[in-house]
Amino acid sequence: MDQATSPAPDLTDHQFALLCDIAKTEAGLMISSSKRQMIQSRLARHLRKLRRSDIDVYLKDIASDKTGSLTGGLISVLTTNVSSFFREKHHFEIFERELLPNMIVKARSGGKVRIWSAGCSSGQEPYSIAMMLIKRVPDIASLDFKILGTDIDHEIIARAREGLYSDDEANTLPDVDRKMFMERSPQSPRGNKIVNRASGLVSIRPLNLLQKWPMKQQFDAIFCRNVLIYFDAETQQSLWPRFCAALHDDGYLFLGHSERIQNSKSYGFSPCGVTTYHKNRQHGAQRKS
Ligand SMILES: C[S@@+](CC[C@H](N)C(=O)[O-])C[C@H]1O[C@@H](n2cnc3c(N)ncnc32)[C@H](O)[C@@H]1O
Repeated sequence: MDQATSPAPDLTDHQFALLCDIAKTEAGLMISSSKRQMIQSRLARHLRKLRRSDIDVYLKDIASDKTGSLTGGLISVLTTNVSSFFREKHHFEIFERELLPNMIVKARSGGKVRIWSAGCSSGQEPYSIAMMLIKRVPDIASLDFKILGTDIDHEIIARAREGLYSDDEANTLPDVDRKMFMERSPQSPRGNKIVNRASGLVSIRPLNLLQKWPMKQQFDAIFCRNVLIYFDAETQQSLWPRFCAALHDDGYLFLGHSERIQNSKSYGFSPCGVTTYHKNRQHGAQRKS
């Protein structure tokens, strides 16, 4: 057997500890020991692709990785990218009912509306937001609405940009939306492509939430769902003030079903629905003064 086909040996405790350390330092990810087997098989597949077989040498190369490309590949191995269209539907209902009317007024009087999907994985979240907007705002093409999707994982970012989905993935969309926003692309194994009018509202960029956020504008709404669940409490707490600062006064933050801001008032947020937080106007005013 050559390097490309031989099975990788089991991870030693030391190698697994090193991987956990890299996951935490580079991406904020906490890897529990229950994930050891899964990480091991994903890593074995990754090393076969790289035609490497020595994990110790690989980990040493990661430690001295100047370009970040080797580390980036490992981050893809360590992240969990599960997503689906209109996941946690209640957030889309709150958005439509409570945020959208004001957003439309703002946009129709010449304002910009900015929405951020932070940790967007393969794109289902930002594209779902785009689909909802297109259906509910008939004059959207003449208004300044934009959706930004970001993720740390470069491989998943490439997939999100491509906008191609398997039948199983596309089937998480209601029939009516699939007909309106997907076209068949039979030459690809992911044979359903998001049509241009939905992808045109969305831009997708790589961004590690732990690092500096280069966006200059504030957002009207931020979706950061099922991302912080992989972070420890300290990392989560370091992000609440940053999300607050990244939102306009009265902006909204949507978290995943098992994520909460403990003591949200002290971070400038009020809970206002299932894992939904409203930025307190007063907090924005204090921050600016
Ligand atoms: C489970 S997916 C959630 C996708 C989508 N938000 C949803 O709820 O369906 C979590 C995503 O967070 C991304 N992620 C993990 N750590 C990150 C970090 N430090 N910065 C940015 N994205 C990160 C992962 O790459 C992954 O795509």
